[in-house]
Amino acid sequence: MSPPPGLNVRGVRIWPGFLSPAAQAAMLADLRHVAAAAPFFAPVTPSGRPMTVRMTAAGQFGWITDRRGYRYEPHHPNGKPWPPIPPAVLAVWDAVSDCPRPPECCLINLYRDSARMGLHQDKDEADFTCPVVSVSLGDDALFRIGNVEKGGTTQSLWLRSGDVLVLGGDARLIYHGVDRIRPGSSTLLHSGGRINLTLRVVT
Ligand code: SIN
Ligand code: FE2
Repeated sequence: MSPPPGLNVRGVRIWPGFLSPAAQAAMLADLRHVAAAAPFFAPVTPSGRPMTVRMTAAGQFGWITDRRGYRYEPHHPNGKPWPPIPPAVLAVWDAVSDCPRPPECCLINLYRDSARMGLHQDKDEADFTCPVVSVSLGDDALFRIGNVEKGGTTQSLWLRSGDVLVLGGDARLIYHGVDRIRPGSSTLLHSGGRINLTLRVVT
């Protein structure tokens, strides 16, 4: 089934308020269970620089980074398999991805205070015909969209709790990042901040 239209910013599809406040709260409860089994950890880049987000994952694979590089791993750094992706998260994929394959990774990024994410491409996956689906929960985030090639102009927009975004088709490899969050703009996370989920087919 093809998804409803959404907004289009440089080929990135955006559905503001896709999840109701009740659906956001329910999803957050699911994610608390995930994080109890797979605790958030502090990733470092291959060059050894600490990232400002905290990270965990659900699904067959988690995306991780450490001194050995960027990659997908079937286990949390604690050696245990990642917990399954919650059904309500899979339902978002089914509604917007227009992709016959299920996601194999739900990367979970936690932004607090001054956390940010530099401009990058999501390109560690084997099949770029499958999109990346992103779900925002908690504080507002200033999301920056660039181009498929490095450089050029960029465009920024605020993502709010419950918004869903798809990097697919010609925009699958578009550069994107998060300049900053607006701390205290949402009360969804009890201790504040923002959670972003990105769903990917890995293999
Ligand atoms: C990411 O690109 O990995 C995160 C995007 C976001 O936090 O909205
Ligand atoms: Fe990304």
